[in-house]
Amino acid sequence: MSDTDFKPCWCVIPAAGSGSRFGGEIPKQYLPVAGKPVLLHTLEALLGHPGIAGVVLVLPANGDCPLALPQTCRGKPVLRALGGASRAQSVANGLAALPAEVAATDIVLVHDAARPNLAHGDLDALFAALARHPGAILAAPVRDTLKRADSAGQVLATEPRQALWRALTPQAFTRQPLANALAAAAAQGIEITDEAMAMELAGEKILLVEGREDNFKITTPADLARFAWLQAGEKS
Ligand code: CTP
Ligand code: MG
Repeated sequence: MSDTDFKPCWCVIPAAGSGSRFGGEIPKQYLPVAGKPVLLHTLEALLGHPGIAGVVLVLPANGDCPLALPQTCRGKPVLRALGGASRAQSVANGLAALPAEVAATDIVLVHDAARPNLAHGDLDALFAALARHPGAILAAPVRDTLKRADSAGQVLATEPRQALWRALTPQAFTRQPLANALAAAAAQGIEITDEAMAMELAGEKILLVEGREDNFKITTPADLARFAWLQAGEKS
């Protein structure tokens, strides 16, 4: 597929988390790696792709964003919204802050701020899938053997890993159905951990698009060290 086959999409970037598993004073998405914050790496990875028209950054509601963020990146708009108590609420706020040019039926991507190592080719693959069906997520097959534990931390059973995938981001859906699905899950008190989960509950079909294993989310300091190591390798 050539870069001009699709209408460029907007992307919501939830960046309002506190990074409780990572620890420390400054949320992980604002920490520097190779001279710039994780969030800027993420912005550049997205906006460097011709399929992305602009982004809405969802920032901490306490106004505690420790960065001076650009108004544009790669010549494209970087809008802002305020986050909520959960990732799902932050995404809902970001969807509401999309510009009017994004129609209810337009496809919108959602990508974690804490996932900076996004490859251009993975976005190509996602857009190719979206040309076939308007709901798709990047995902990776489970590679390790899976154990179910009992309450004492002992192995209860080995679970079949066949047909199991790890959900990554970006995840892409049409704007209004996604906003409706998130609102419906919230109204039912269901904790949504990714956009696909909300769309599944709404009964929607979602394509799994195999993405790279190294599109990892920075959750712990070891993940940040891995990203720093990859960045150092790119420079040498
Ligand atoms: N996020 C958000 N709003 C929230 C919670 C999370 O925008 N209320 C964002 C995070 O900033 C991150 C993405 O959602 O970019 C994925 O969440 P996660 O990795 O879980 O980040 P945190 O929630 O910050 O970390 P933790 O769960 O360890 O507290
Ligand atoms: Mg979290």
